[in-house]
Amino acid sequence: MRTQIAIIGAGPAGLMLSHLLHLQGIESVVLETRDQQAVESTIRAGVLEQGTVDLLNQTGLGERMRKEGTQHHGIRLAFGGQQHRIDLTELTDRAITVYAQHEVLKDMIAARQAVAGQLYFEVEDVKLKELDGDRPQVHYRHNGQQQRLDCDFIIGCDGFHGISRAAMPGGLRQDYTRVYPFGWFGILVEAPPSSDELIYARHPRGFALISTRSPGVQRMYFQCDPAENVDQWSDDRIWNELESRLENHDGWSLKKGRIFQKNVVGMRSFVTEPMRCKRLLLAGDAAHIVPPTGAKGLNLAMADVCLLSQALDEFYRHKSWRRLDSYSDDALQRVWRAEHFSWWMTNMLHTHQDDSAFQQRLQLSELQYTVRSRSAMTMLAENYVGSPFQMM
Ligand code: APR
Ligand code: PHB
Repeated sequence: MRTQIAIIGAGPAGLMLSHLLHLQGIESVVLETRDQQAVESTIRAGVLEQGTVDLLNQTGLGERMRKEGTQHHGIRLAFGGQQHRIDLTELTDRAITVYAQHEVLKDMIAARQAVAGQLYFEVEDVKLKELDGDRPQVHYRHNGQQQRLDCDFIIGCDGFHGISRAAMPGGLRQDYTRVYPFGWFGILVEAPPSSDELIYARHPRGFALISTRSPGVQRMYFQCDPAENVDQWSDDRIWNELESRLENHDGWSLKKGRIFQKNVVGMRSFVTEPMRCKRLLLAGDAAHIVPPTGAKGLNLAMADVCLLSQALDEFYRHKSWRRLDSYSDDALQRVWRAEHFSWWMTNMLHTHQDDSAFQQRLQLSELQYTVRSRSAMTMLAENYVGSPFQMM
């Protein structure tokens, strides 16, 4: 088989890239190891920056998001028994939309399949070959048949545990990592929303987050040991923990319901540089990971492939390498901003076992400043809503 662009991985990055390339008349093949049902049902985050929303709308993928997603104009920071609103829209003129990542994936898969896009699930044993030359190859197995895909470029959109990053020459690559000593215990609950906006809470017992999925399904998290076993947590124990961490003097109360999913999310910051070597380019989680506190993962993946589709367009249209050459530097500017923001939000809101009393007071002081100073609130809001994507 031959194509222009081989895309490894059908997560948000790979699917959006193949959709954008299709709109530009560039052919691609997407190879995914999991089955379609698994891709469409894995629970991940759900906060879309305005840039992601605009991208989905402008490329014809926004219909269900406009109907089923909810626009939020603010978030709340809770600490010391009180909630404080950060008015995102007043401070930045922008908003976020809450619409689950797996719903975005369903919309993208449907769009690719509607135009008979080449999207293969359940491929096995994917190997990248001939990466030094002008005609890279992807070898893989599908339906028991060994296949070879020749292409102009390979785009590694295969997430943090994929094979693409490892195929970049080790000497060229520099990795930056921070692993946090805590994780998030996440639940999905059948209940009405407890709040019309997301609540990020800092409490001496640890961080908690109230998010939402739909009018009838809520997403909540609390900081836990990264090795926590969900089976050790009865529903009662979970509600007690969340209620303690969200205690307040404002009369606000948590709305409980049937918990139908529990999982533990690890927390890591990671960047690899550069994001390109010759005809292999990385996008999304394959190149960088952020802790979920800033809600940036999906949005960074979208911003990467937006840049990449334009760079590839310039290559095919004008035979120019200019934007491919600058892709890594261009993408990493946004990546490092999001890395800093996610790290900062994480540190400000989580407790560490070995925190001294001094460090705890500093943390509270930073929170107080963040909700009192307009400049500090604007800094948070600008980063949270994200800067506009570079569009064509
Ligand atoms: N070959 C083919 N596909 C692979 C391989 C492989 N060797 N290894 C992994 N994959 C697939 C995974 O099964 C997954 O569906 O690549 C996809 C990568 O998707 P994501 O991990 O979602 O990464 P990305 O598209 O960059 O999106 C980043 O999604 O996972 C969230 O929190 C993350 O919000 C962030 C966003
Ligand atoms: C979520 O709804 O899953 C969610 C929301 C905000 C975050 C992270 C996750 O910062």
